[in-house]
Amino acid sequence: MPAVVIVGTQWGDEGKGKIVDLLAPQADLIVRFQGGHNAGHTVVVGQEQYVLHLVPSGILHPGKIGVIGNGIVIDPAALLDEIDGLTARGIDLQGRLFISHRAHLIMPYHKAIDKESEKLKGARKIGTTGRGIGPAYADKMARVGLRVADLLDPDLFRQKLTGSLAEMNYLLGRLYSVKGFDLDVVCREYLGYAERLNAYIADTGDVLNDAIAAGRRVLFEGAQGTLLDVDHGTYPFVTSSSATAGGAATGSGVGPTRIDRVMGVAKAYSTRVGEGPFPTELSEEQGGGDLRARGQEFGATTGRPRRCGWFDAVVVRYAVRINGLSGLAITKLDVLDECSDIKICTSYECRGNRLATIPAVAEHYDECRPVYETMPGWKQSTVGITRYDDLPPNAKRYLERLSDIVGCPLDIVSTGSKRDQTIVMRRAFDA
Ligand code: GDP
Ligand code: IMO
Ligand code: MG
Repeated sequence: MPAVVIVGTQWGDEGKGKIVDLLAPQADLIVRFQGGHNAGHTVVVGQEQYVLHLVPSGILHPGKIGVIGNGIVIDPAALLDEIDGLTARGIDLQGRLFISHRAHLIMPYHKAIDKESEKLKGARKIGTTGRGIGPAYADKMARVGLRVADLLDPDLFRQKLTGSLAEMNYLLGRLYSVKGFDLDVVCREYLGYAERLNAYIADTGDVLNDAIAAGRRVLFEGAQGTLLDVDHGTYPFVTSSSATAGGAATGSGVGPTRIDRVMGVAKAYSTRVGEGPFPTELSEEQGGGDLRARGQEFGATTGRPRRCGWFDAVVVRYAVRINGLSGLAITKLDVLDECSDIKICTSYECRGNRLATIPAVAEHYDECRPVYETMPGWKQSTVGITRYDDLPPNAKRYLERLSDIVGCPLDIVSTGSKRDQTIVMRRAFDA
């Protein structure tokens, strides 16, 4: 089994960082293939907590190689901050971090447009992380983006930036009435980043394919989640990249025939940050506040409180299909320890019809009511349990019911944020 993909099955923050860190010892290379520093992946090692944004989560294991693939959008200042932060904590990335020369750059005007566009949208805003992600991907698709490779040719970089700034400054001034950016200033800033990033820049498609040909194992680390995927998510309340399993191929340059397994990460309940449909959302009074407090549901990137609700099996069943999941990692089971009753949404009721899948139009969710099945809670601690047989019977029943409704076997159950607070039921990579 040389290549395994990890993806989020809900709206992000499922605990992908913990699962990637857990599986990294079985792999040689760990690859981020989409998104940018909108991601916040938390890894807890002993008493230490790390929040990774662009650097793959497996990097905390000595000797593992991290790859930032072509599908990523990179804010060089944010990446350098992250590299410096890790170095200061004793994680040296020299010689084991590779950045794709085809990855796109997030420019200062992307961040400005992200913020201004959200302001202009008013009530229709997406609730983005404000990191410039959407505008950077828009430029990529419009074929006017600047890429990491461009940083290595200062004259060409300046020439391309001159063209981009002419357009972007016009847009910022005329549409959003804000000041544009100065060519010399931006050029100097970015060429400065280039000097520092140079040592990490590579043809990462080659790095990965050579590694696979040599029998090495690759772990793909998805960011965001299936319902935030630009094609398959709750459009337009999504991010701007392919957060589903297919994105691992296009975002890394590794062909689909080289990928063997796809593991989906799902929280034992649901959360969402930002705006957009969330059928099983619980108001504060209904218990959303309790779930947030017990699950510490505050954004790892922006610190925003996460919206919380019951497990939505319609959503995860959809994710099983869209990603072709071979197994599931259920995280944060322990957060439900104190619940007397636990609900699972099995379908939506919409204008008198039962829907077994999600609507394509975000507005149509307004007419969808979740249909619940209620299961008894277990009212005892599962924190840190490492053997499936040691779980309370009702917790096992809950997990088995989830697996059954969504139609996917369980690979992992997580019972705490630490590495060893985990039940491994099936190995991701063959021994
Ligand atoms: P990611 O973006 O998918 O990597 O997830 P985040 O790191 O944004 O959010 C997941 C949060 O849940 C982090 O604070 C993790 O440390 C924490 N976490 C992960 N697994 C578990 C678990 O099984 N139980 C508990 N209580 N916390 C967990
Ligand atoms: P990880 O990888 C949760 C959400 C934002 C917003 C929408 C679009 O940690 O799971 P963007 O800045 O990407 O244009 O925002 O997507 N979002 C996330 N929500 N986890 C994430 O990443 C997210 N990355 C983006 O809140 O609703
Ligand atoms: Mg996160």
